[in-house]
Formats: sequence, structure tokens, C-alpha cells
Amino acid sequence: MKIYVINGPNLNMLGIREPHIYGSESYGTLCERVKAHCEARGVECVIFQSNYEGAIVEKIHEAYFEGTGGIVINPAAYTHTSVAILDALKAVGIPTVEVHLSKIESREDFRQISYVKAAAIATVSGRGIDGYLDAIDILIDN
Ligand code: DQA
Repeated sequence: MKIYVINGPNLNMLGIREPHIYGSESYGTLCERVKAHCEARGVECVIFQSNYEGAIVEKIHEAYFEGTGGIVINPAAYTHTSVAILDALKAVGIPTVEVHLSKIESREDFRQISYVKAAAIATVSGRGIDGYLDAIDILIDN
């Protein structure tokens, strides 16, 4: 099984960006922990980050053409705005788990809407980097 792990804008700034909300571990650490977990669980993973909505849409399409079995996505700010990412996930029909490092349910009103949620089999929020590992497990055990 191959899993695509897709990250949206500003997640490359992890560790620097509002550490009281997103933690002090870097994006590099996130990638290492995801890779190690996928190896331990015997799945292949492709990890991607972009600050551009269209690049994320294209990566979701690529996941389809690569025969990917699951997507873990943290669309970051695009969670709350992007019909294009929702449509891309619906277009490919790949089982998807939405992840947020912070507990978006307890944050500002504008973070209460997730467009992506409608295309996800589960949402993991507020578990930091561990949430990505949970999402991988959900896809494998699904
Ligand atoms: C986030 C939450 C979003 O509201 C925010 O825009 C992000 C990160 C999270 O991982 O907690 O950039 O998706």
C-alpha cells in the first residue's frame, strides 16, 4: 500500500511558526516521524508540502494516477476555504484522513468550517505530529 501525506501552506514553518500552537518540532522532524511510522507499518509513503492550492490539487490527482491507497492531508488554512481541494479529493475517491496539529474545534470561528471534512473518512485534530501517525493507522486498518 502507498500513502500520500499532503501538507498545505505554512507547514514548512513548523517549529518557527507559533510554537505555542503548533509545537516546537520542525517540518523535517514531522517528515522523519511519518517516514519511520510508515516503514514500521510496512507501507510506502510520499510526503509533500506546498504553499500553493493548485499544487495540492495536482498532487491529489497524481495520487490517483500512482494507484495510491490512502491520503493523509493537512490542508492548513485551505481547510477553511478550498472547494478546489474538496473537489479534487472527491474526484479521486481515495480514502482520506484529514489531520490538524492543533485542535481547530477549540479555536477561532473561521476555523470551524472544514470543506475537506466532507471527503474524509476521519478527522484527527489536536494531537500534534502524533495525529499524522494516527491517520496513517486509520488508513491501514480501514
Ligand atoms: C492547521 C489548522 C489551520 O486552521 C491552520 O490554518 C493551519 C494549521 C493545523 O494543523 O492545526 O495552518 O491545519
